[in-house]
Amino acid sequence: MVRERIEELRRQLEFHNHKYYVENAPAISDFEFDRLMRELQELEAAHPEFADPDSPSVRVGSDITSEFRTVRHRYPMLSLGNTYSLGELHEFLERIEREAGPVEYVCELKFDGTAISLTYENGRLLRAVTRGDGVEGDDVTANIRTVRSVPLRLRGGDWPKFFEIRGEVLMPYASFDKINAEREAAGEPLFANPRNAAAGTLKQQQSAVVARRGLDCTLYQLSGDDLPFQTHWQSLQKAREWGFKVSDCARICRSAAEVDAFIAHWDAARRELPFPTDGVVIKVNSFAERRKIGFTAKAPKWAVAYKFKAEQALTRLLSVDFQVGRTGAVTPVANLEPVRLAGTSVRRATLHNAEQMALLDIRPGDMVYVEKGGEIIPKITGVELSERPADSRPFKYIEVCPVCSTPLVRYEGEAKHYCPNQSGCRPQIIGRIIHFIRRKAMDIDGLGEETVELLFHNGLVRDISDLYDLRAEQLAPLPRLGEKSAENIVRSVQASLGVPFHRVLFGLGIRFVGETTAKYLADHFRSLDAVMHASREELVEADEVGGKIADAILDYFADADNLRIIGRLRDAGVQFAAEERVLASEVLAGKSFVISGRFADHSRDELKALIEAHGGRNLAAVSASVDFIVAGENMGPAKLKKAEKLGVRIISEQEFIAMIQGGGAVPAVPAQGELF
Ligand code: IVH
Repeated sequence: MVRERIEELRRQLEFHNHKYYVENAPAISDFEFDRLMRELQELEAAHPEFADPDSPSVRVGSDITSEFRTVRHRYPMLSLGNTYSLGELHEFLERIEREAGPVEYVCELKFDGTAISLTYENGRLLRAVTRGDGVEGDDVTANIRTVRSVPLRLRGGDWPKFFEIRGEVLMPYASFDKINAEREAAGEPLFANPRNAAAGTLKQQQSAVVARRGLDCTLYQLSGDDLPFQTHWQSLQKAREWGFKVSDCARICRSAAEVDAFIAHWDAARRELPFPTDGVVIKVNSFAERRKIGFTAKAPKWAVAYKFKAEQALTRLLSVDFQVGRTGAVTPVANLEPVRLAGTSVRRATLHNAEQMALLDIRPGDMVYVEKGGEIIPKITGVELSERPADSRPFKYIEVCPVCSTPLVRYEGEAKHYCPNQSGCRPQIIGRIIHFIRRKAMDIDGLGEETVELLFHNGLVRDISDLYDLRAEQLAPLPRLGEKSAENIVRSVQASLGVPFHRVLFGLGIRFVGETTAKYLADHFRSLDAVMHASREELVEADEVGGKIADAILDYFADADNLRIIGRLRDAGVQFAAEERVLASEVLAGKSFVISGRFADHSRDELKALIEAHGGRNLAAVSASVDFIVAGENMGPAKLKKAEKLGVRIISEQEFIAMIQGGGAVPAVPAQGELF
């Protein structure tokens, strides 16, 4: 009985899943769907003996963190030739016709996501692998299983026993906007565009996170050894029947004029699509003709991508605001009459700096062109001079800080103006505190941006060290807080005393000292005192630290106010030293390594961690002070040449592991050619 009900629920949910996510035509309400899902989950929980890895209930993912195995593609994932010019596209079509006579083309949208290869065996999803370098990619099956439009089991029965299907994992604008809004509220860095968001999400280590991100997957290419099709078009129709989401925007075109019409249509109509596209792909339809036309080393010669120009919109510049960042840098920001661009409504755009504004001669009241590049904030790329109001005057850039009225300064080699009033200018003070509490720094999650503003306005916090003096009685009476939040804040401030030194160093907000540099500094110097007292020469000895960063560090510690704050943080008990390294062994003591290429059994970071755990040192570049290069596949030829010239030993992953296990003994020199 139970078993039948479970199977019935699975069938129903699979059906409605397809209706909703693949056909975009839901047949029942979300409420009803959730009710069926809950019933299934409850029955499955009570009857683990009926578990099934392909059950629709697995689509919620899991909290287990997974590492991604590198997998070799059975058929390499090639790239596509692309062009922005219709002239070049016509040359492509003429070349095809010269070689193969008049042919049919399939024109498709070029989806702007991240490529994926799905393998099915006996109608079930076996594996999902990212493009990687085209030869091998990451196995992201657990994550892909949560993408509702990817069928875990195929419909019908006429699919090949084993085949691959390729497509694009996409993030629809609606999911993208929602995620970025959540990230903004949580003070987390935003995704620059839906493509980055899709790629970043696929590499998430917890599939439950992926499940919540609203990814979609559209398939556009079948590969297999004996596919029973003569044309690409047939294969797409079949794939759709088997349950895959296959775009219904594709068309067969029989002439350059038809291809042009397809492009012209979608260049405009794509603005109405709920997901991002960046062009049109034109492919020869017949597989026999494709074989005749062939491939170059990197791409098929029977297909090409025509890329759309970045979307532009014309709108009025209402006014210019000036934002002061935590470093004092001033950024001019345009307030625009709201306009739709690449799927979202835009009302703000960056103007970069005074020079850029002068170069474009941008004036409030102008009609301006707005474009979305790869960045989060759109930019203004030009002015429509024909629409400039008659009474318009050149814009005069500000000379004093818009917040504290201190005269602005320009530093050598920098395009931006700065407000030098570090300790008295509100957005700089608040910006530094907000940076300090960030997740990647002290992770004080009881506090958010608004609360920091509130504490500042009430005179409770003027710099980061004041956080450690906060008492719940002071906080509870403040608006929007109350006793519970007050205690929560104090608790999370106290918890930050356990945050490791490298994150403290990052949290101080020293110019140019990002997360990675802070790690290198902490690793090299091991304590704040050592960083503070290091000379310029000593500072640049740390990996990845150059003159610019060293100068910024020296400036920071030359400031009396910073020294006072550091003294108070020290008294509060913040971690100012790295934890003692616990070594697994010292078998690699005194030896320096460079890791290069990709490896079968370990990630590069795992190898680096192993080197450190056994007392060795990781270096970034090949030089005479390197003892060994651990070389994986496709180590760069330049590195190889340099290593050979310097006589640095090159060892494989297996030899490296053998070296640790063998107490550091250097493996015997392998015969020539054995390594690769
Ligand atoms: S066919 C061998 N069709 O564009 C040809 N690719 O620039 C394989 N893409 O890596 C690709 N939409 O990630 C094809 N309708 C479409 C596509 C498409 C987007 C991506 C794909 C590929 C890249 C090449």
